[in-house]
Amino acid sequence: MADPSSFASADQFITRHINLKLCVDFDCRVIRASSSLTVRGLHDSLSQLIFDTKDLTIKKVSVNGQEAKYSLGTSHKFKGTPLEITLPFPLTRGQEIVVDISSETSPKSSALQWLKPEQTAGKIHPYLFSQCQATHCRTIIPCQDTPSVKFTYYCQISVPKELVALMSALHDGEISDPDDNSRKIYRFKQNVPIPSYLIALVVGALEGRSVGPRTTVWTEKELLEASVYEFAETEKMLKYAEDLVGPYVWERYDLLILPPSFPYGGMENPCLTFVTPTLLAGDRSLASVIAHEISHSWTGNLVTNRTWENFWLNEGHTVYLERRIDGLLHGEEFRQFKALGGWKELQNAVNTFGASNVLTNLVPNLHEVDVDEAFSSVPYEKGFALLFYLEQLLGGPAVFLGFLKNYLQVFAYKTVTTEDWKKFLYSYFKDKVEILDKVDWDGWMNTPGMPPVQPKYDMTLANACIALSKRWVEAKECDLSSFSAEDLKDISSHQRIELLTLLLLQEPLPVSHVKRMQEVYNFNEVKNSEIRFRWLRLCIRAKWEEVIPLALKMATEQGRMKFTRPLYRDLYNFDKARDEAVSTFLKNRAYMHPVTEMLVAKDLHVN
Ligand code: BES
Ligand code: ZN
Repeated sequence: MADPSSFASADQFITRHINLKLCVDFDCRVIRASSSLTVRGLHDSLSQLIFDTKDLTIKKVSVNGQEAKYSLGTSHKFKGTPLEITLPFPLTRGQEIVVDISSETSPKSSALQWLKPEQTAGKIHPYLFSQCQATHCRTIIPCQDTPSVKFTYYCQISVPKELVALMSALHDGEISDPDDNSRKIYRFKQNVPIPSYLIALVVGALEGRSVGPRTTVWTEKELLEASVYEFAETEKMLKYAEDLVGPYVWERYDLLILPPSFPYGGMENPCLTFVTPTLLAGDRSLASVIAHEISHSWTGNLVTNRTWENFWLNEGHTVYLERRIDGLLHGEEFRQFKALGGWKELQNAVNTFGASNVLTNLVPNLHEVDVDEAFSSVPYEKGFALLFYLEQLLGGPAVFLGFLKNYLQVFAYKTVTTEDWKKFLYSYFKDKVEILDKVDWDGWMNTPGMPPVQPKYDMTLANACIALSKRWVEAKECDLSSFSAEDLKDISSHQRIELLTLLLLQEPLPVSHVKRMQEVYNFNEVKNSEIRFRWLRLCIRAKWEEVIPLALKMATEQGRMKFTRPLYRDLYNFDKARDEAVSTFLKNRAYMHPVTEMLVAKDLHVN
């Protein structure tokens, strides 16, 4: 099966190793790269190689030291431009050659955000970070930008000497740059084969502090103390993950806490997970994102989706493992509570896309679809719901973990499709084929909307959220005095998130209700980003004008797309807020992450 999101001919040849020399130029906002790709032919008499590029300038190409002819093909609006290299000699099956490419990025590279000093916590030095998943690696270097190809890499990266560079790899020493004494070269090696989307880099005024035998927390010094506290349970989570699924093969598990414009909650870059500072709740309550990224060290980074159409294999299994770790940390009732919360998130995503939208299929067709635009909670939560349903159908958590461990063992260092997964499931449970045959596979995998069946959940922790949300939904204006701060006395922050999620699935509340909720619960003062986000949405949907500035503030002061996009969308849909939402976006767009900027522009219908 070909990758609809890539031009590279992964059926003709594969990349085995990339040796990189990068020079980061903050003045021009470009990275100059010299990339040596070791590639292996898969057929005889191959005369041309096609790589992915996007917004790259190609300066020179040679093959085994011999200069080679190349051309750039027709540009596609989101896939980029294929780089076609004519080989000076035909490649034979199994033969390996080295392709050297000199290139330069564009300042608008969609993988990179260049921050001015004012956009950092320290305000003195500039900052650069990458986000390659899903299809942005091609905007840094020419590559086979498809998860179906895995390679090792080595990188020497030159940066201003007052800054620190880190990558998704192991540190291999540093020297002062022999070509420029104002600069320093950091070296990195990644000896486990990875897909291109896991290449990552960051350059900034970073400081690190060790919080465990294999973990250093990296961030600007202003955030270091808070970060060290928030993520102190990382080693404990790593150990639980190893108890569940076996040895951690990546050696280091460092954490990088990025500036607020980082577009995701977390990104599982090998050896160095990237996370948003919106996890800094002060009480470790949002650390399940770390459990999630740790889990990707097996599901995703070892066993990798072959194409983005199979993304649920990465995320569904990762959410499943994340919740198993949650269960070990906080008990089975908590795991069940999070599982049910996931079903509500799925409901919310299906409502947003529309129940007949084919992008709500577990396995969507991504032909001519921009992966960033297709992104949603669906592969996460429909994928999780399927695995949780199968867990119950096939004999419970212990039995299902046996399957998962075996799946990881069989497919480690490889890539998988949904078909491979299903075939393996049937072979592992060969004595339960009649049960498996009763699963509505087509309903789960190839049908839009909610799944054909709902798993069962322990309701112990959810009941209080359901009861309180019901009280609010059913309350008449004259009943509002019955609410008080006491309502939340035994309601944890996780349950507050769930309460608000349930209310968001209902018709908007009357403004009188959200005003009363503010009086008694004072949610306006809450810093926890997951609570604050849902609360502000609830108020905007209730058309409470006074909350507009708070919602705009959250949408702009941080750039995690999960928060920023729905906030902007809700503001846009509120007549009293629309113009200000659009003008705020126009004023801020130059400072936004390129992908966030592109998607919010679409959401707000500006060019
Ligand atoms: N790999 C994803 C982030 C991602 C997905 C980036 C697709 C780009 C394209 C990461 O592991 C993730 O799922 N992050 C979640 C965390 C959550 C589910 C706990 C996020 O960012 O919110
Ligand atoms: Zn994930």
